[in-house]
Amino acid sequence: MIGENEDVEDGIEERIKDILEGEGTAEERLLWVCRLLRESIPRYDWVGFYVSDPEEDGMLVLGPFAGEPTEHVKIPFGRGICGQAAATGRVFLVRDVSLEDNYLSCSPEVRSEIVVPIFTGSRTGIEEGGRLLGELDIDSHTRDAFSPYDRQLLERVCALASETVEDYIQERWDRT
Ligand code: SME
Repeated sequence: MIGENEDVEDGIEERIKDILEGEGTAEERLLWVCRLLRESIPRYDWVGFYVSDPEEDGMLVLGPFAGEPTEHVKIPFGRGICGQAAATGRVFLVRDVSLEDNYLSCSPEVRSEIVVPIFTGSRTGIEEGGRLLGELDIDSHTRDAFSPYDRQLLERVCALASETVEDYIQERWDRT
């Protein structure tokens, strides 16, 4: 499984960097990143950003995403896989969602999920002095779809996206 899309995935970080540093609003750039990941990597069926709600402590709000709409537009810290990743600041890689008690289903087709937190200053953890900005959530219809390779790729994508996520929060909430 690992490496079966290596050719496609090889150039993906460069393309993501180009998008993030290119034109468009922060919302548009994050949306294009979601679409690129989903279209380039077939096992990624739903790709979306959640951000920390600046108006409500301990709440995640759905940001740009690619895939079917979800009812989970707001998720309290601690609830579901996303809420647990936000509460702990750690990556959650779930090989089989049917075995999870604390899980919020977006679609009955989803089999596995990975959630990678995003911190200020492209940091990879709160312990390094970062503040949680949000997270990148990916669902797959394939069981055990995510390997350590995906985790590393997505951690690098989240570090690259950190500044744009910060800009997105400003754009969305500082509008008057
Ligand atoms: N499955 C997530 C909810 C978000 S959807 O996957 C888009 C969770 O358990 O937190």
